[in-house]
Amino acid sequence: KWKISCGIMVLMLAGGVAWGKDDIMSQARAIFKPVPAKPPVLKENPSTPAKIELGKMLFFDPRLSSSNLISCNTCHNVGLGGVDIQETSVGHGWQKGPRNAPTVLNAVFNLAQFWDGRAKDLEAQAKGPVQASVEMNNKPERVLETLNSIPGYLPLFKKAFPRDKDPITFDNMARAIEVFEATLITPDSRFDRFLKGDRKVLAAKEQEGLRLFMDKGCSACHNGVNIGGTGYFPFGVKESPAADVRPTEDLGRFKVTNTAADKYVFKSPSLRNIELTPPYFHSGKVWKLGDAVEIMGAAQLGITLNDDEAGKIVAFLKTLNGKQPKVVYPIMPPNSDATPKPML
Ligand code: HEM
Ligand code: HEM
Repeated sequence: KWKISCGIMVLMLAGGVAWGKDDIMSQARAIFKPVPAKPPVLKENPSTPAKIELGKMLFFDPRLSSSNLISCNTCHNVGLGGVDIQETSVGHGWQKGPRNAPTVLNAVFNLAQFWDGRAKDLEAQAKGPVQASVEMNNKPERVLETLNSIPGYLPLFKKAFPRDKDPITFDNMARAIEVFEATLITPDSRFDRFLKGDRKVLAAKEQEGLRLFMDKGCSACHNGVNIGGTGYFPFGVKESPAADVRPTEDLGRFKVTNTAADKYVFKSPSLRNIELTPPYFHSGKVWKLGDAVEIMGAAQLGITLNDDEAGKIVAFLKTLNGKQPKVVYPIMPPNSDATPKPML
């Protein structure tokens, strides 16, 4: 008997050292990746400190909007998890847009930008809001007129784009914003430390939540570096969500591809920093993370998650808050007499 229990103990100890395939950490490592410590290199848009600095200024400069009141940071507040905490964004003339603003934090890791993926990267994306009538309501020519009229901008564009003869262009504005946005990453979440081998960093309840997240099937659509942002899926695979949560008029990716199968298809969003970015879904109709989790269970997986299970998954999701980027507020160059006046 003694020999048998000794043998069992040895086996248990061995198991403790060499974790099996069903070990939660090994399983998680096969599905998720930590956020890297440094911003990724953008092949077509190499980053330099001068370009990042210019991009930051443009991101914060409300003079890119026709009212001179709305900057990228208005709706993607980098002190608030990169969002505006509104159901759907409020833009020019207090107009309410149709969709919730996704965070800019870690957006560089998404396969494409916008809920429907209609912009291939952050550079293409940045040209959208400046011109959208419900957002910044401006025209590229007027943005260029403004930037050219602000004497302090020319040396900054020259430094950022030293090879360009005439560096103040709409494309260069978008390129600079893109490299700045690529710096807005949030490494070192508790979950990332777990993935790197620190088992104790997650409490038992959080690990149970992670187990449920993987075993129930959430990670089929929310995986990789961003725990999402890797593919497009119908919102309502198993069950249509309520009409306020998934408004009938927003057909999602169908508008991009014109393919019937893409009706109500959206990008699976990143779940990093999800605690910081209520309300949830493209409609922004769900304010509580636990409710969003239960809706996902029913709509995407056809399962009912009880409160205990949803609570554990929420506890896990809260371990995805990473180190927030430290952004020093830029001092922007002043207007000249030639700068166009705000148009409200
Ligand atoms: C989407 C950046 C201005 C509201 C996005 C995304 C990025 C971004 C990267 C996509 C994120 C993702 O898909 O995961 C910027 C930049 C801006 C800017 C660089 C300035 C040039 C604004 C403003 C508003 C706004 C001023 C609010 C009035 C939104 C909304 C979406 C969005 C509602 C989702 C739209 C959709 O999917 O159709 N923005 N944004 N953004 N942003 Fe902005
Ligand atoms: C959205 C969690 C399963 C695809 C979301 C959101 C959360 C979440 C919290 C809101 C994110 C935000 O608004 O920023 C979960 C959990 C799951 C799960 C806990 C398991 C119970 C799935 C599955 C799929 C999926 C299996 C794919 C079949 C999506 C999509 C959205 C989304 C497409 C965006 C919906 C929209 O607003 O249009 N998920 N998810 N999710 N998830 Fe999941």
